[in-house]
Parts: sequence; C-alpha cells; structure tokens
Amino acid sequence: MSIAPRPPVPELIPENAPFTIEQRTWLNGFFAGLLSLDGAGIKPLSAAESAALMPSLPGMVPSGDGDDGEAPWHDQTLPLAERMNLAEGRPLRRRMMAAMAQQDCGQCGYNCQDYSEALFSKKEARLNLCVPGGKETARMLKTLSQELDGSPSPAPTIAASAAAATVAPAALPGCSRDNPAEAAFLSRTRLNKQGSAKETWHIEFDLGNNIDYTVGDAFGIFPTNDPALADAVIAALNAPADFPIGGRTLREVLIDGVSLGAAPDMLFQLFSYIAGGERRHKAKALAAGEDPDGDATTLDVLAAIEKFSGVRPDPEAFIEALDPLQPRLYSIASSPKVDRKRLALTVDTVRYKIDSRTRLGVASTFLADRIKPGDTLKVYVQKAHAFALPADPTVPIIMIGPGTGVAPFRAFLHERMATKAPGRNWLFFGHQRSNYDFFYEDELAGMKAARVLTRLTLAWSRDGDQKIYVQDRMRDVGRDLWAWIAEGAHVYVCGDAKNMAKDVERALIDVVASYGVRSVNDAVTFVVDLKKSGRYQQDVY
Ligand SMILES: Cc1cc2nc3c(=O)[nH]c(=O)nc-3n(C[C@H](O)[C@H](O)[C@H](O)COP(=O)(O)OP(=O)(O)OC[C@H]3O[C@@H](n4cnc5c(N)ncnc54)[C@H](O)[C@@H]3O)c2cc1C
Ligand SMILES: NC(=O)c1ccc[n+]([C@@H]2O[C@H](COP(=O)([O-])OP(=O)(O)OC[C@H]3O[C@@H](n4cnc5c(N)ncnc54)[C@H](OP(=O)(O)O)[C@@H]3O)[C@@H](O)[C@H]2O)c1
Repeated sequence: MSIAPRPPVPELIPENAPFTIEQRTWLNGFFAGLLSLDGAGIKPLSAAESAALMPSLPGMVPSGDGDDGEAPWHDQTLPLAERMNLAEGRPLRRRMMAAMAQQDCGQCGYNCQDYSEALFSKKEARLNLCVPGGKETARMLKTLSQELDGSPSPAPTIAASAAAATVAPAALPGCSRDNPAEAAFLSRTRLNKQGSAKETWHIEFDLGNNIDYTVGDAFGIFPTNDPALADAVIAALNAPADFPIGGRTLREVLIDGVSLGAAPDMLFQLFSYIAGGERRHKAKALAAGEDPDGDATTLDVLAAIEKFSGVRPDPEAFIEALDPLQPRLYSIASSPKVDRKRLALTVDTVRYKIDSRTRLGVASTFLADRIKPGDTLKVYVQKAHAFALPADPTVPIIMIGPGTGVAPFRAFLHERMATKAPGRNWLFFGHQRSNYDFFYEDELAGMKAARVLTRLTLAWSRDGDQKIYVQDRMRDVGRDLWAWIAEGAHVYVCGDAKNMAKDVERALIDVVASYGVRSVNDAVTFVVDLKKSGRYQQDVY
C-alpha cells in the first residue's frame, strides 16, 4: 500500500514578517492546523496581521540581552520539546520560561514569565513549582539551572521551601499562596443526579472577614493527603509512623507536607544509592527520566516504593526526596456582591484506577470526601490576570463554559443580578447527559425567568448517538451570535484548555467568517483583535 505524500504546509506567514525561520515555520504549521488547511484558496496573511498573532506578553520588553520580547512558545497546547525548539538561541531566562507549562495558571504563585525571571535572578530556588508542567518542566528547569553559575542549583528541601515561603509574604493574608488566610468549610452538594458518570460538587466556604475577592478570580486551597494513603506509604517503608521529622511525626508530614502524587526524580535517585545490581540501574534510569519497564507514568510515591520493595531509605532522607504538597486553584463560582463572606466552587472529583488501586486527586477528593463542615483550612485568592466582567454594565456578554467551566459564569450572573446590570447575558453550557449533569438547572431557570439570563444554549454530548458540543451549538446559532458580537458583546470561555478551548475558538472564527461575511484570514484577524482588546477572555486549564 502506498502512502499519499503529506501536502506541504501552506505559507500563510510572509517572508518579510518579523520572525525567525523557526517562528515562521511554527506559525505556518499552527494556522494550517487551526484552520485544517491544505493550502487551497487561502490568502497569505499580511506582515502586520501575522505580527499581531505572535504571542507577546504584557510587560515583556527587550532587556538588552538580545531578546526581542516575543514568546512564540507561549501556547499551552505545544509539547515541551517544541517549546524548547522555539526558544533555542534565546537568553537563559527566556528558555526557562519556555520550560513552563504556559498556562499562567498562578498555581506556582507567579505567572510563567515571572517564575522564570525569579529563578534566573535566584530570588526563587524551587524548581518544582509548575503544577501543570509536572516532572517534565522540573527536569528541564534543573538542566537549564546548571547554566546559571555552571553548577546545578541545590535541590530545594522541604525545610528550604518552607523557609522560602516565609521570606517575602504578600502584604495581606489571603492574597497569595505564600501568605494564606483561614476559611471554614461549610458544605458540599452533589451537582450530578444519581446515575451520572461524573462526580461534581458545589462547595461553599465561610470567609469570615478575612478575604476579599472579585468575580473572575480563582480560589487557592491547601489540601491534605488521604491519611489512608499516608499509612500505606508508612507500611511500605516499614518505618515508625511517629518517626520525628523537624518537630513533627513522619505521618503528619506525609499527610500535609509532601506530594504523594507522581514519584519525583529525587526519590529514584535516593533509591539508586541504596538498591543493588539491576535495581540500581533501573532506579538511575528512572531518575534520569527514562522508562526502563514502561510503567514510569503509573508510579506515584507508593507505587515507586512498592517497585523497589525492600529498599529502606532513612525516613528523613525519604521526605527530603519528595516534592512539597502544592495548593490547588478553583474558579470562584459566587459573587461577593451577593454575600461577601460566602464563597462557592464547582469541583470535579478526580478518581481513576491503575491496576487494583484507585488513585485519588488530592484536592478534589479532600473537598469531596475528607473535609467536614466547620473544619478550617488555609486558602488564598489568586487574582485573575485578564478575566473580568466588562466595566460597563450595559455591555452584553457571551459565556461558554461546559462542565465545571460554568463556575465563573455563575459568579458573573450572580454579580450582574446583584448589581442590576442591564447588559444582556448569554450562557452556553454543556455536559454529558441532560438528565444527570445539568448543573444549577433550577437556578439558571430562575435567572432566565428573572431575565438576568437572557439566553441559555445547551449541548449534551451523550444524550444521543452523536456528540453535541458547545461549539456545535455556537455554529447552529451563528447568526445571532454574530449579531451580539457586532453589537459589542464580550466573549468568555472557561474549562478544558487542551481541546475545548481550541475548538470553541475555531467555531468562533467560522461564525465570524460566515455571518460577518469575511474571508477566513480576516475572521482570524478579527478574533485576534477581539483578544487584544479584551473582548475575548479565557480561563482555561
Ligand atoms: C485557574 C484554575 C482554575 C481551575 N478551576 C477549576 C474548577 O473550577 N473546577 C475544577 O474541578 N477544577 C478546576 N481547576 C483544576 C484544579 O486546580 C485541579 O487541578 C483539579 O481539581 C485536580 O486536582 P487534584 O488535586 O484533585 O488532583 P491531582 O492530585 O493533582 O491529580 C490530578 C492528576 O492526576 C492524573 N490523572 C487524572 N485523571 C487521570 C486518569 N484518568 N488517568 C491517569 N491519570 C490521571 C493527571 O496527571 C492529573 O494531572 C482549575 C485549575 C486552574 C489552574
Ligand atoms: N477554570 C479552569 O481552569 C477549569 C475549569 C473547569 C474544569 N477544569 C478542569 O477540566 C477538567 C474536566 O472538567 P469537567 O469534568 O467539568 O468537564 P469535561 O470533562 O471537560 O466535560 C464537559 C463536557 O465537555 C465535553 N467535551 C469533551 N471534549 C470537548 C471538546 N473538544 N469541545 C467541547 N466540549 C468537549 C464533554 O463531552 P464528552 O466527555 O462526552 O466527550 C462534556 O460534555 C477537570 O479535570 C478540571 O480540573 C479547569
């Protein structure tokens, strides 16, 4: 069987556009992929249009070290290797930025650019803070940090991390992960009906008078590990639960101090010092990011100990080899204008099975199972970078949020209801099945009756034979969607970054091209302009 040759990637980016060959190649590929083009009938973009599309970051100015301030790798859908290629030849601080997951999610306490600048200037020593980048990012940062002064940065220890966290606390408690405040857990209510394949909870907290927030912000919580998992680790280590570590017990530190998720390279390195023969080689290979038995992605801390069973590290050295337990962020689903002390979240519970053991997402199961009404926990508000209601309350808004992506839009609607904002509000919501997964159904019906929610468009992916997604509904009602946009509506997207956000953007381009009567190129430029002017905002993960 002969394989048809791949069509050449169309040259959408002109040669006189201000990019390197690599950047031009990447942009050509990116837009060919985005537009599913085979090169037929497509006009190349002008130099100005393509320059407008190149990701460049606010506050990013050339700093005299040969960098032009552009960040073509600032795209969370690109794999790390591709991002590093795009950053090749750039100054170290910029290559460090390319190693980050590019989500600007704030979980590390910075955005991607600030985290890399802090590492480069040695204000930050912790190389393992990028949650979405995980081990891959930590490994690349470790390699890059060797260029800092010719020697690798010392691996930050749990004690050093704690010390770093107390060096520069933000002014007000509750305003950053390094200076959290206390909140009380109030309640959880299941949002899916019995029989759903999903487990999603409406969670409420009492903030007291401690914390202020705005709709669009995210809420950081410090979870604890499942004590049963900590006990299983202690049993596998064959160590005493009350072994003293820095004034606390081994069990306590395993519950609230360290991550028991993906086993870090340092743990395998530690095992390689202790194990003998073939197992030493395997541990070394795993520490170097190799996968000698094809099971590396399944190895959480407990599975790693079990794989090297009989290796008995000193409990203190073991704890030092683990990553610190990180806080998790959730889009806030309430408005302080309704009740400034009460804050809500919409949380999807992460549980999945590997072999016979069910693995638990730390924070989502902490909220779903372990925390009890009245319990207090450490929390903070992560200010949104560019995800907010229009300043003008008369401006119409279009909100696209399938699944838990609905969270910030519930907050927007509550805010607009409480402030009696006259602007029209259109929500696209979707999930698996209408009978089981219609979150906030009664509330949305109430807001529709009260004319706060002007329009509600629903997409159920598993009701029929064919999957219907929010972007399908956007195309169905494209004429009206375009009319709202032409009248100045702001467009918001929240939820899955990997597929949904890209597909929604593609649908928007199609709607603009079809009903705004534009070429595809002009529609792309129109959507880019919407983004640049703050009229197309995303909170995607
Ligand atoms: C700004 C922002 C806003 C967010 N808003 C929300 C929100 O409103 N609602 C919400 O629910 N979440 C939201 N998230 C995601 C949230 O922060 C957590 O990432 C999520 O709850 C999982 O955390 P966890 O601690 O429960 O799981 P973790 O312990 O972190 O485990 C998750 C990891 O488990 C692995 N995993 C998960 N499923 C599988 C599987 N089936 N097979 C194999 N491995 C798997 C993956 O490696 C995944 O990264 C948001 C994230 C950000 C950055
Ligand atoms: N603010 C944030 O950053 C944020 C917000 C929400 C969620 N999240 C994260 O995203 C994950 C999933 O969230 P979730 O459980 O709420 O819902 P989800 O798994 O994203 O599913 C919601 C709906 O989207 C559909 N869907 C799947 N692929 C799609 C695509 N390409 N385009 C459009 N729709 C698509 C699903 O259909 P099928 O499953 O039938 O294909 C389902 O009907 C969670 O792990 C959460 O952590 C982050």
